[in-house]
Amino acid sequence: MNVKIYFIALILNLFLIINLKSQTKTIQSHDVILSPKVEALFKQMTIEEKIGQLNLLTPGGAVTGEVVSKNVEEKIIKGNVGGIFGIRGAEKIRIAQELAVNKSRLRIPLLVGMDVIHGHQTILPLPLALSCTWDMKLIEASARQAAREATADGIMWAFSPMVDIARDPRWGRISEGSGEDPFLGSEISKAMVHGYQGNDFSDPTTMIACVKHFALYGAAEGGRDYAAADMSKVRMFNEYLPPFKAAIDAGVGSIMTSFNVVDYFPASANSYLLQEVLKNSWGFNGLVVTDYTSVNEMVDHGIGDLQHVSAAALIAGVDMDMVGEGFVTTLKKSLNEGKITIQQIDLACRKVLKSKELLGLFEDPYRYCDAERAEKEILSQGNRDFARKIAAESFVLLKNKEQLLPLSKAGKIAVVGPLADSRRNMLGTWSVSGDPEKAVTVLEGIKNAIGNKAEINYAKGANLSDDPIFAKKVNVFGEEIKIDSRDPQLMINEAITLAEKSDVIIAVMGEAADMSGESSSMADIGLQKSQTKLLEELKKLGKPIVMVLYTGRPLTLVWENENIDAILNVWFGGTEGGNAVGDVLFGDANPGGKLSTSFPVHVGQIPVYHSMLNTGRPYGGQANSKFLSNYLDIPNEPLYPFGYGLSYTNFEYGTLKISNSNMTTQSKIEVSLTVTNAGNRESSEIVQLYIRDLVGSISRPVKELKGFQKIYFKPGESKTVSFTIDNELLKFYNSELKFDSEPGIFQVFVGPNSRDVKMVEFELK
Ligand code: BGC
Repeated sequence: MNVKIYFIALILNLFLIINLKSQTKTIQSHDVILSPKVEALFKQMTIEEKIGQLNLLTPGGAVTGEVVSKNVEEKIIKGNVGGIFGIRGAEKIRIAQELAVNKSRLRIPLLVGMDVIHGHQTILPLPLALSCTWDMKLIEASARQAAREATADGIMWAFSPMVDIARDPRWGRISEGSGEDPFLGSEISKAMVHGYQGNDFSDPTTMIACVKHFALYGAAEGGRDYAAADMSKVRMFNEYLPPFKAAIDAGVGSIMTSFNVVDYFPASANSYLLQEVLKNSWGFNGLVVTDYTSVNEMVDHGIGDLQHVSAAALIAGVDMDMVGEGFVTTLKKSLNEGKITIQQIDLACRKVLKSKELLGLFEDPYRYCDAERAEKEILSQGNRDFARKIAAESFVLLKNKEQLLPLSKAGKIAVVGPLADSRRNMLGTWSVSGDPEKAVTVLEGIKNAIGNKAEINYAKGANLSDDPIFAKKVNVFGEEIKIDSRDPQLMINEAITLAEKSDVIIAVMGEAADMSGESSSMADIGLQKSQTKLLEELKKLGKPIVMVLYTGRPLTLVWENENIDAILNVWFGGTEGGNAVGDVLFGDANPGGKLSTSFPVHVGQIPVYHSMLNTGRPYGGQANSKFLSNYLDIPNEPLYPFGYGLSYTNFEYGTLKISNSNMTTQSKIEVSLTVTNAGNRESSEIVQLYIRDLVGSISRPVKELKGFQKIYFKPGESKTVSFTIDNELLKFYNSELKFDSEPGIFQVFVGPNSRDVKMVEFELK
């Protein structure tokens, strides 16, 4: 075939296969069309070699479970490995590819994956922090930058984006996603996929993305990692699946199954999820990979022995088995016993080969091993500058009494707290390729921001935690919680002496990096006692206090909200996070973020989120509220609602207008209002649109995010902000899982967060 025709065929093929939106027929192995060269190779493959392609191993590096990948080199040479992950570096990966390409019988190159989660070596803010920018261009650029670094470092497959909706801050992996909302989550999911994959895999700076974890992983019971998830299909389709669908529609090349059970059956062999939803209904024909040993874990889920669960995963539609080697050790036996078919093996194998073909590995297995590019691009000044900018955009200003922030670069400043001078903790969880030594601390960032304009004095003041047993559990990847040899009271005294002599106190507090992330569930999500004790003592001095809060999850901060003058939530800002903190504290940058997850008043409120259903006895804040839906001891409302975040200026929202109070399924209406920057600083504002469907065939949420705009304002500037509402925006999955709108009255809300909104109504005829 001439090259041009082949190229056109390939594009058509890609278009049909990867971007098909709603296909009803089950995909067969012959639907995965390979280039003539790869097809010829496929024809030569033995059963063992085909099964070998389905085996994804890690030679070590960052692992999240028992390391069961032994003798990886030998297995590559034997053709028993389709891909590896968890190692990086152009040279190391070249060596691995050489084994596959020069020493295995069919010379099939390896797929090389990695957890590129928030940046690669230049670590960017945590995904939860990135979501608080509400800025799709920046988020896409963050994935683009990560892809440029990773692809120079030997990696061509990113295990990202993680799009699990999470409404339980006890679950440590809430830090890895985009929060509680499916609309925001879907926008971010698309932006990330575009960022990693670009438009064209022939560009060696692009890579295949892997949307994860399919599905409902974020709804783990009790916030306990890996626990079961159980919910109605209506909720699943309206609230938990949309970000996955968005990634598929954006052309994501691969998807990872989740560890948990869904409907009493493990997601990694769940044929409802993997066949009916993913393939038959959404038409996904990319690569399906399991999570780390999740095939083997089905034995513990009580589904059967390793042979049985491996066969079940393949039949359900899994193509690659991560780490556990259930496929490679049992599929041939299952085939011989007639428990699986050769077509099922062929389909999975062809999908692995197709991914390699898309990435151009058959032309050049070393195209992602570019030591020169790595040298130039990784941790470049440009990348660090971007990291600094996006970190500031992700910070959420939770409180700012009497405009304490930004601070002036003058006088005496006390910097205290266990995270003020902790390089080890700056990157946050899931920063496997990041080097903490390359990170800027908060103390350095503050010094960089003020130079010699003010006097800075530092004292640690408290340990992250005084509990050695807790510290040991957290410190699996290194000494993140370092318990000082000094007595805690002595440390407090030192901080107090220093604070007494200062004009303002900056207390840098919160979580160690791995207090959130995988397998980091917490029952108590307040600050550790060692830290609140320090804060209480500082408070007695009567000096202004700014708390810079490091966290990978929403925390309960009632005392802090009442007693601390300013709270700047900086999540984990990554390599340049310390500089970004300096920029924001002293007004060289604005805190740009708004929350993508509600902050509860108390752990007992969980789940608390903005798009809840109404009750039949709604609580409207009444004093005497017996027999209404409320607590005796705490309020219903979160401490900081979804969408909330202050600015260094203040915005005024005018009257909300609507272009027409009647709408049809064919027409559109517009809601608009004037937003004014009433302060004297330039700033962005994230204006949010929510809709409530008042009467439906099923109960509908009290409010759903349906649009947002991040707009820049000069001091004193007013702008008209408008949102268009069309029928698409009003559709939802009903009890038959039919996606459609229903006529009736709708309320439209616009505001700076999900709580403080203006409202108008219209009717859909
Ligand atoms: C995580 C995945 C990750 C995988 C590979 C698992 O423990 O759940 O998100 O991609 O490990 O490192």
